[in-house]
Amino acid sequence: MDCSCSTFVIGICFRCGISADKSRTAISLCAKVFIWTVFCVVVVTLVSAYIISHLQMYLPSLHSATRSNVRDMILEIQVRNTTVLTPRPDACEACFSHNFKYVIDNNVMCKLYNDSQEIDLIIFIFTTHQHQQERNAIRQTWLNCTNKNKANIRYSFLLGEVPDENIRKLVEEENKIHNDIIKEDFVDTYQNLTYKTMMAFKYAITKCPHAKFVFKTDDDVWVNIPGLLKVIQREKMTLQTAVGGACFHGANPHRNLDSKWYASFQSYPHDSYPGFCSGTGYVTSNNVVNKIFEISKNVPFFHLEDVYVAICIRKLGYRLHKIAGFNNIRPSFDPCLYKGDNLITSHEVPPEMLISYWNTTCTR
Ligand SMILES: *[C@@H]1O[C@H](CO)[C@@H](O)[C@H](O)[C@H]1NC(C)=O
Ligand SMILES: *[C@@H]1O[C@H](CO)[C@@H](O)[C@H](O)[C@H]1NC(C)=O
Ligand SMILES: *[C@@H]1O[C@H](CO)[C@@H](O)[C@H](O)[C@H]1NC(C)=O
Ligand SMILES: *[C@@H]1O[C@H](CO)[C@@H](O)[C@H](O)[C@H]1NC(C)=O
Ligand SMILES: *[C@@H]1O[C@H](CO)[C@@H](O)[C@H](O)[C@H]1NC(C)=O
Repeated sequence: MDCSCSTFVIGICFRCGISADKSRTAISLCAKVFIWTVFCVVVVTLVSAYIISHLQMYLPSLHSATRSNVRDMILEIQVRNTTVLTPRPDACEACFSHNFKYVIDNNVMCKLYNDSQEIDLIIFIFTTHQHQQERNAIRQTWLNCTNKNKANIRYSFLLGEVPDENIRKLVEEENKIHNDIIKEDFVDTYQNLTYKTMMAFKYAITKCPHAKFVFKTDDDVWVNIPGLLKVIQREKMTLQTAVGGACFHGANPHRNLDSKWYASFQSYPHDSYPGFCSGTGYVTSNNVVNKIFEISKNVPFFHLEDVYVAICIRKLGYRLHKIAGFNNIRPSFDPCLYKGDNLITSHEVPPEMLISYWNTTCTR
């Protein structure tokens, strides 16, 4: 066996298959084989080292991966992706127009029944089509003081649109009886509550400009109207440039997908909110409502309505004013507390509970 090139390959005999008289060609050929072999080995080693080192980075998390770990990883990838592409701008030129049409336009809500009548307060209650029981419980209890929308306090239940024809019909019937529903043609979902707020504000400034104060709440809230009226009387000057309620400063976006208040980096690319006054109940003046509605045209949509209101308030240079007695939780029931001056709102009160609270009198 002719193996004249073996000296070049550190003891490994390559079968070059060439005779001794062609040894010079053989030497250069074997050298090429040798160099290519070394090159290939080096490349393969480097590539595998790279792959292994990266696998080790991911392996521990993959081993212990729970469902939420994997979801967080996917979310992080999505978040990085979208942040780079289209984060929500802080301001814009006429990008948020409220172009929805009324489906139920309740023109009697703010009607004045004589020359000397004034509207001190309008109450907007966020609800959904199916919550007829909630609405009835509220009508029977804390809305009694409105005297079916003829007193100086007025109210309305707010809805968006739903696909189901039968559910729509039920609400139309309900409105024929009570005349207290306002509805526009945006899709009624949790993600669209900011549209509902803008619907309320638009209604207040276009159809109720003579109303002095505006209160926004939900259909699972106990509201102490006499207490609220005292707060308004006390805070009437402050509320010309502030929103009052269960206000929080220094709130941060929830980045966990499971959170009810989840906000993606794309929808809000900052670490903190300008605060917010809980949507379970906030009060302000018609003046502030007017200013918010105007500035909202240049403030990009954000789905958490109370945060959106706070963003507008900051842009206006106004304030979020924390007022004692506004609770975004449900304090334990005591009729003297619930009907006294120290509690204005209580949250997560289902219809039967609302009625039983209403029927319990304070005996101290
Ligand atoms: C990144 O963004 C593009 C365009 O919005 C989208 O098609 C793609 O699915 C995104 N990738 C990930 C991993 O989210
Ligand atoms: C005006 O109407 C309201 C509500 O019906 C009533 O309470 C009030 O007494 C009326 N005022 C006058 C001067 O008639
Ligand atoms: C509770 O109050 C409602 C009206 O708010 C009334 O119709 C009902 O009879 C009361 N029920 C009881 C048990 O007192
Ligand atoms: C409901 O309001 C009417 C007048 O609008 C009043 O006469 C009645 O006492 C009120 N009922 C309760 C339980 O407050
Ligand atoms: C919000 O409402 C708009 C307008 O009706 C609709 O196009 C959109 O799908 C709704 N968004 C959600 C998340 O329901």
